[in-house]
Amino acid sequence: MTTNATTPGTASPTGTPARAAIERVGVVGSGIMGTGIAELCAKSGLDVRVAVFSETSLDTAPERLAASLDRGVAKGKLTPADRDRALARVSFTRDLGRLADRQLVIEAVKEDEALKQDLFATLDKIVEDTDAILATNTSSIPISRIAAATRRPAQVLGIHFFNPVPVLPLVEVVGSVLTDAAVVRRAETFVRDVLGKQPIVSPDRAGFLVNALLFPYLLSAVRMLESGHADADTIDQAMTQGCSHPMGPLRLADLIGLDTTVSIAQALYEEYKEPLYAPPPLLMRMTESGLLGKKTGQGFHTYA
Ligand code: CAA
Repeated sequence: MTTNATTPGTASPTGTPARAAIERVGVVGSGIMGTGIAELCAKSGLDVRVAVFSETSLDTAPERLAASLDRGVAKGKLTPADRDRALARVSFTRDLGRLADRQLVIEAVKEDEALKQDLFATLDKIVEDTDAILATNTSSIPISRIAAATRRPAQVLGIHFFNPVPVLPLVEVVGSVLTDAAVVRRAETFVRDVLGKQPIVSPDRAGFLVNALLFPYLLSAVRMLESGHADADTIDQAMTQGCSHPMGPLRLADLIGLDTTVSIAQALYEEYKEPLYAPPPLLMRMTESGLLGKKTGQGFHTYA
């Protein structure tokens, strides 16, 4: 297995005690992002424990993980033996307390600030007396507001993945004003050397770098549709064929999830008070009506 630090207990060349390599990771949440992060970590040789919130998720989360790994086998990217080894590295639990031995916990629950703060306050107590890093995969909420719920803000940061996690190479690493610089460096090294992704360090501002750029564009597409400028297929075609984007903005909003899109837009608007971040009425009405995009089969487009 690739490791990101020297052997536990040995000294670094500078004489400071070396940190143990991160080998035991916890993931909280088993939605699209949580499962993708668990898959990536397992394929990178890590011991992964996923905390879920319902009995149903204890069945559906392993199925979702197995289906994604099977897809890798079908595409010839993974051997059946690699898939089986990856599956064997992941366990699922409803008991957050079972994350007590994790060196890194990555939270990937829905984009709700109060929920994340409660969770971090609980996780803080669970990993008490350890130097575990608590990371959030939030897309938009400033890290300092989540870290404030803990007594270890120096050990809290953002590690923000992109959907689909197994495919997209970038990861934003986000420290708050209180995060220890060594923790940010450790996370960057972990993301690059263990997970094989490309880290960038982004500022602790709502939406960080990627979503602060992406969301005005996605929301403009919704406004174009709402004002009758063009239909959804034409708007998407404009960007796939005109700019060679892999998918158009409305299909991408459907992939992200329209509820998540609203939450991110609201966090950006709250931070900057710029109209370009405000969620358009059409997006609000669709979300309130349960049209959440690909995951519910209907958003701006229809999915089988
Ligand atoms: N798991 C594993 N592999 C997957 C996958 C998944 N869920 N989805 C697609 N792939 C792989 C496929 O196996 C395929 O690999 P090969 O080329 O080696 O065969 C490759 O990705 C392309 O997939 P497909 O041929 O099935 O479909 P596609 O060409 O239409 O690509 C896509 C699908 C990867 C989603 C592509 O359209 C894409 O990159 N879209 C943009 C996605 C994007 O912008 N994501 C960022 C969203 S913002 C975000 O996540 C952050 C946030 O905070 C909201």
